[in-house]
Amino acid sequence: MLIKRAQHILLRGEDIAASEITPRAVFEQRRRLLAAAGMAPIAAAGGLLGLPRLALATYASPDARAAKLAANTNAKFVVPEKVTSYKDVTTYNNFYEFGTDKADPSRNAGTLRPHPWRVSVEGEIKNPKVYDIDELLKLAPLEERVYRHRCVEGWSIVVPWIGFPLAELIKRVQPTGNAKFVQFITLADASQMPGIADPILDWPYSEGLRLDEAMNPLALLTVGLYGQVLPNQNGAPVRMVLPWKYGFKSAKSIVKIRFVDKQPPTSWNTYAPNEYGFYSNVNPNVDHPRWSQATERRIGEDGFFTPKRKTLMFNGYGNLVASMYQGMDLRKYF
Ligand code: MTE
Repeated sequence: MLIKRAQHILLRGEDIAASEITPRAVFEQRRRLLAAAGMAPIAAAGGLLGLPRLALATYASPDARAAKLAANTNAKFVVPEKVTSYKDVTTYNNFYEFGTDKADPSRNAGTLRPHPWRVSVEGEIKNPKVYDIDELLKLAPLEERVYRHRCVEGWSIVVPWIGFPLAELIKRVQPTGNAKFVQFITLADASQMPGIADPILDWPYSEGLRLDEAMNPLALLTVGLYGQVLPNQNGAPVRMVLPWKYGFKSAKSIVKIRFVDKQPPTSWNTYAPNEYGFYSNVNPNVDHPRWSQATERRIGEDGFFTPKRKTLMFNGYGNLVASMYQGMDLRKYF
């Protein structure tokens, strides 16, 4: 994403050769479980409202050392596409607090200490509270959801995340009438995060949403993936996942959730306001100033002749989110 001195990063990202070994095993395990439950066609069809939930998070943890995390799959939010390999999802990352190369977070994030961890929920709410991560994990039932995830750089992945809707937390803290936006502030501790020494971004990494976006059922407060707790490089112990927006909106390793009356400053928008808008909804019709957003490369589909995929409006989630932007000029509010 970086322009100026780190522009090469984006270009270099295109030549990663993705391994397919773990993913296939995970995916086939998933299919076996679905078939055993007699539900394969339903999950393959993307899930339908009102169907019984499936416990799928029983598949073997792809990382034998990682703690498992039990969650029921919410079939309404299972995208009918092949899940990206665990290896790719955990080794091809953006987490600049650990370096700007895609391989840096998995190499360097071992120094992050995700436990104990506290998240302060504050600002324009009736019930401000500092949540211990263990308490936060128990706030609402954990769900597994398989979402498409589209990075502004032009690549995409399909990931079985585990978490619960941010709306569950918002309901408990009760925003006041002044709360119009939600800001996410993430950890900026140089002793745990070597990348902080580099003032690429204005640390701490900060992101934001309008309150109605934060309440949208898709907005997932996320604590795990592939049946296990979030690896450090993916934003342990808690991050957002907002599948209708470009990936940089999904702040990792959150320490503060603040309810505010004005649109909050956000890291990438502050860095390059003409390139990274506050909304950053996935939109194939509005190009980034330096590249097209019409197509994307699915990580793991790296064959020389593999065509790029067409990027979908709102990343394919328009039925759940388009109404929030009705009447807005999406070129202006990009
Ligand atoms: N959160 C923090 N704190 N720091 C970051 O550098 N990068 C963002 C987002 N959240 C980032 C972050 C970007 S650019 C993307 S694409 C996603 O995290 C990547 O998430 P993933 O590595 O789990 O795929």
